[in-house]
Formats: sequence, structure tokens, C-alpha cells
Amino acid sequence: MAFGKRSASSIPEAVPVASKPKAAPVAVPRPQSQKPKTPTPVAVKGAPKPPSAQAKPVQIKPAEPKPEPVRQVNQQSEQYYATKTTIFNALIDTIDLSQLAQLDAESAREEIRDIVVEIISIKNVVMSISEQEQLLDDICNDVLGYGPLEPLLARDDIADIMVNGADTTYIEVNGKIERTNVRFRDNAQLMNICQRIVSQVGRRVDDSSPICDARLLDGSRVNVIAPPLAIDGPTLTIRKFKKDKLKLQDLVNFGSISEPGAEILRIIGHARCNVLISGGTGSGKTTLLNCLTGFIDPTERVITCEDSAELQLQQPHVVRLETRPPNIEGSGEVTMRDLVKNCLRMRPERIIVGEVRGPEAFDLLQAMNTGHDGSMGTLHANSPREALSRVESMITMGGFSLPARTIREMIVGSIDVVVQASRLRDGSRRIMNITEVMGLEGDTIVLQDVLKYEIEGEDENGRVLGSHRGTGVGRPRFWERASYYNMERELAAALDAVGS
Ligand SMILES: Nc1ncnc2c1ncn2[C@@H]1O[C@H](COP(=O)(O)OP(=O)(O)OP(=O)(O)O)[C@@H](O)[C@H]1O
Ligand SMILES: [Mg+2]
Repeated sequence: MAFGKRSASSIPEAVPVASKPKAAPVAVPRPQSQKPKTPTPVAVKGAPKPPSAQAKPVQIKPAEPKPEPVRQVNQQSEQYYATKTTIFNALIDTIDLSQLAQLDAESAREEIRDIVVEIISIKNVVMSISEQEQLLDDICNDVLGYGPLEPLLARDDIADIMVNGADTTYIEVNGKIERTNVRFRDNAQLMNICQRIVSQVGRRVDDSSPICDARLLDGSRVNVIAPPLAIDGPTLTIRKFKKDKLKLQDLVNFGSISEPGAEILRIIGHARCNVLISGGTGSGKTTLLNCLTGFIDPTERVITCEDSAELQLQQPHVVRLETRPPNIEGSGEVTMRDLVKNCLRMRPERIIVGEVRGPEAFDLLQAMNTGHDGSMGTLHANSPREALSRVESMITMGGFSLPARTIREMIVGSIDVVVQASRLRDGSRRIMNITEVMGLEGDTIVLQDVLKYEIEGEDENGRVLGSHRGTGVGRPRFWERASYYNMERELAAALDAVGS
């Protein structure tokens, strides 16, 4: 097997996955519906009406089907995979993998090395030392770690890894989803790796419990859904844990928010406004929440409740709580509502809820308006108005038999600001609105944008152009809070600088 002669130029242009007859679905430009919705009209008190987004139509080019580009994560040829399979199979015949897993990583690697070198010589495989090392690394990853996922897990620039069956792996880099040439030997290997991941948190994934959430040792969030629910093979989704979380200044540098906008957020965080961060999946909600928590005073006692601990608060006095899914027998579940309720007995000064998605919305609102101001949470919604109606429906569906008006009064009495995050069609993340909750007029909640992002078009590379603008609000409702915290001068300056 002459894969010693392999060179970069010999790597087939069409990588295995692409050359399969069952061609991958071609890249179809995002449907228009995926575009961030034009923010729903916001009732603005005394402020000029924002110019309609219709005024500047965005040019949308007709869809032209083109082959899906494949990102080369590793440079292996077909022959390499074939050799690896042969050697791997011979290895499994020789050793007991479960015993190997008992050894520490170094000794297990040594053991594998000896056997692999032996197999290579017996089978007369021609390969250079560096190729042998590569093969050894790959086999060790397969046996001891997460197999072909390892090179992806090692990269810090990847936000998400999405494995759709053994042959198809996508990653998200710089906000863009791209297909890679990473692949697994077969679905059984992929399933084994999924099993290895979830067993670390004491769970199993199989026919009888085919859905499972877990966490990698580095904190990355994992979801596995297996056949028969996932029709084309085990499907694994990993939200990589970023060790160096983005700071508000990074968001300014990326253009996600303007300088004065960031200053307004700093004041909102510091002056203990109750904040909801709203946005779609992967729009940067948790990142933004983490940034806002940066402005909490180090003397405050903060309690965080999350499904999977992602927040990294810098303050010394922080208690971190995490929900727990039910065990295999279906008992032992601790829900977000249990945590938030318990939190109230822990003398918190601020409560931070990673993601509000159920009846805990009620407890969070109660906490917000009973002396735990400065509490924050995120939720999935496409606009500030939708965020509030989601809170309302979470409470209604939570079985609290309260009249709609009472719930709205509660919302208005507790939430000060909604910050809307979005992932735009070019993959960039933007803060779309900083919106104040003003009050109730009749049965309608009145909202007022303090800042909004206006899309103005796109450049020749398809990047969305636009700007963050103020809406002419001179004195937002949180002015008094800001002045209580001695920040009214900063707030006035930021509002001036934000323009309109
Ligand atoms: N403004 C930004 N600019 C560039 N990248 C960002 C920005 N905000 C977040 N990211 C990156 O996007 C990815 C998703 O961010 P994050 O986890 O905050 O999203 P989310 O809305 O909480 O997602 P989910 O809905 O899955 O919880 C992360 O890798 C994060 O580093
Ligand atoms: Mg999140």
C-alpha cells in the first residue's frame, strides 16, 4: 500500500464525501425567512418614528446552485483511511480495548504504539515516520479519545461542530457554517464516541433513550440524537466552550455594537437594571450576558443558574448552579425552576439565569421585582416585543392561572431593558436593539428603543452594512437608576454620542 508516496498534490480534489454518489445537498443560500426579521414596530413614546427598513431595499441575488465547498481539516487520502481501517481492525483483534481504557493515557499510547508498529511491519505497509506518527495519533484518538473529532475540538476558532452521521461533519467558523472532510469509519464508531462522551456525565444513549445532553470535560455543550429518531445516523452537536470569552470591547471591535452603545450597556449593567437578552440560536446571547455580568460590582453576591455552566463571572462572590436531567430510570431531575426558587433562599443580590424557557420565568420576574434588581436572563425570540410575549406564554403555560393583564403588569414592573441579539445572513452577530420597557397602555406593553441597528445594504463580499443609531431618546426610564449610581453624566454623554 503505497501511501508513503502520498503528497499534497495527490490528495483527490473531490474529497471522499463530495465524490459519493449520494451528493451532499448543495449550498442553498439561506432562505429569506432566515434573515433577521425586521424588528417588529415598537411603540415609541415621543420619539421620531424609525425610518422604515423598506426605504433601503437589500439586493437579493437569485439562487445559483453551486457545489458545496469542503473544508480540508486533515489531509488524508482514501488510501490512508483504508490503511487505518486495516490496522485498526488488526489492533482490535489483538488487544482488549476495555482493558486499555483502564490504563493512563501515556501507558495506553505506548501499548498501542508497540502493537501498531508491529502490525505495520507484519502487514508490510510502506509509510514514513511522520505518517506513522499521524496514524498512531489517529488510532489513539479513536481508542482513547473522541476520534476524528479531536482535531476539531483542539481548535479554538470553531464555535460549533455538527456531525450528521458518519460521513458528514460541519463546523461553524467566523459565523459561517462550512462542511469539512472529517468523517468517521462508520456509524458504529460515531455512536461509540457519542457513548463515550455521554458516559462521562453518567448517561447512556441507545435505542431506548436516543436523546441525550452532556458536557465535555472542557465545558463544551453536547447534544446527541441517535437512530431511529435521527434517520441518517447518530447526530452530534457540540457548542464549543470558548476559554477566552469575548469581552464587550471585542464586540465593539467586531462591529456588533457601537462604542456609545457599549457604554449604554455598561451603564445598564452597573446601574442594576433588570435585563432580558433575546435572540435566535447561536446569536450570541450567552456571550452578551457574560459581558454584562462583567459590570457587576465585586461586592455583590451573584447566583447563576444554567443548564450547562457556560458563564464565566469574574467576581469573587459567585455561586454557580446547574440543572440536572433525569437519570436512566427517569428520576432525580432538577429543573431550572427548582434552581431559581432555591436561589431565592440563598440571599442573592442578583440572579442570572442562563436561559429562561419555562415556568422559571415567573420566579425570575418575582425575584426581579422583590429586591433582586440587576437580575438577568436570556431567551429565544426574534424581537424585544416577541421576547416579552414569550415570557407571557411561558408563565401561562407554566400553569399559573393569572389573567393576561396581571402577567403583563408583572412583566412591566420587573423587566427594565431587553437587548436583542441577531446572527445576520453574512454570519456576523449584531446587537439589534436596546429597548426599554416603558409601561402598560391599555393592555399593550409600551416599548421604546434606545438604540437600534439599521441594515443599509451589503458590500461586494456579501457583508451586511449598517449602523447603530440612537432614536432620539433624551432621558430613558433608567435615567433615575443611572443617577442613583452616579452615572447620569456618562449616560447623557453616551446618549449624545449615539446620534439619531
Ligand atoms: N458579537 C459576536 N461576534 C462574533 N462572535 C460571537 C459574537 N457573539 C458570540 N459569538 C460567538 O458565537 C458563538 C455562539 O455564541 P453564544 O453561545 O453566546 O450564543 P447563544 O445565543 O447563547 O447560543 P444558544 O442559543 O445556542 O445558547 C460562540 O462561539 C461565541 O463566541
Ligand atoms: Mg446560550
